[in-house]
Amino acid sequence: MFVLEATGPAISQAVERLQRGEFVGLPTETVYGLAADAGNDLAVARIYAAKGRPTFNPLIAHVSSLDMAMLEAVLDERAQRLVARFWPGPLTLVLPLAGSHRVCELARAGLQSVALRMPGHPVALELIRAFGGPLAAPSANRSGRISPTTAQDVVAELGDQPGLVLDAGPARVGLESTIVAVLPGEPVRLLRPGGVSREALQGVVGELAVSPAERIEAPGQLASHYAPHARLRMNALTPEPGEAFLGFGLHHREGSPNLSRAGDLVEAAANLFTMLRRLDASGVAAIAVAPVPEHGLGEAINDRLRRAAAPR
Ligand code: TXA
Ligand code: MG
Repeated sequence: MFVLEATGPAISQAVERLQRGEFVGLPTETVYGLAADAGNDLAVARIYAAKGRPTFNPLIAHVSSLDMAMLEAVLDERAQRLVARFWPGPLTLVLPLAGSHRVCELARAGLQSVALRMPGHPVALELIRAFGGPLAAPSANRSGRISPTTAQDVVAELGDQPGLVLDAGPARVGLESTIVAVLPGEPVRLLRPGGVSREALQGVVGELAVSPAERIEAPGQLASHYAPHARLRMNALTPEPGEAFLGFGLHHREGSPNLSRAGDLVEAAANLFTMLRRLDASGVAAIAVAPVPEHGLGEAINDRLRRAAAPR
């Protein structure tokens, strides 16, 4: 893939490519996505092929307005409250499909629900608006690998693929959106922790149900997702011989990266994938990661670390 700074002409070029059924590397505030026309099965199939992703894994459709969202899905009163509070931003809602939907069956992996998100990034919003319809966009990494937070990461993952990556600098949030299901006759369920914390969601819709079906319904939740090449050990106070160290707060080693010296979980989330990727690229066999507290964005950070640490 090749990189262009996300200026007006580059965005116009991206729109033409999307219209031809090609995919485009898309900056969002969470991670970089691999975007294509969500209504075009062939374009969506090209995403799955490029990622090497199992085709039963449904994709998020990205919208630029509430009107566009309401053509795709049914938003009940709870969904509308969530959207009013968190869109544009790192929250994805799994909703019942509307009769007027454009999102194709392949992008939904055959489900009668659809995952929608309005990204909090001016380039993403401008591209969707200019294209005029929803864009299916999974994270722009090979299936099961670390999500990209810069345009250069996208090239590192998918460099052998054709296509344009719009470069808008590093992703601000640095980990994927939170996914909640808001479906009729059931409580709001957290399917994937992410850029909006559980506490922030509960402030709007009250207690969240934990989904026993979560692993089936959000198959991106496969145990060994986000795997670096190196082995990973969590809650490490000091590295063992042969391990590289990734610090957090006061658990710091001179000369080793630190997710956040100040112990700030938002800063840590933004640094997580970049630092893992850099340590991995240095060729170490094992990475020891300092303890990260389980509150706020710490829940999502630990979720990603657990997947990276899972046996494979
Ligand atoms: O931050 C993000 O969400 C990024 C950026 C690019 O927007 N996108 C992203 O997409 O992380 P992806 O495809 O890597 O993850 C989508 C997740 C998967 O775990 C998938 O299984 C779940 O969303 N999903 C999509 N549609 C669903 C549905 N109808 N029901 C349940 N889960 C769904
Ligand atoms: Mg992903």
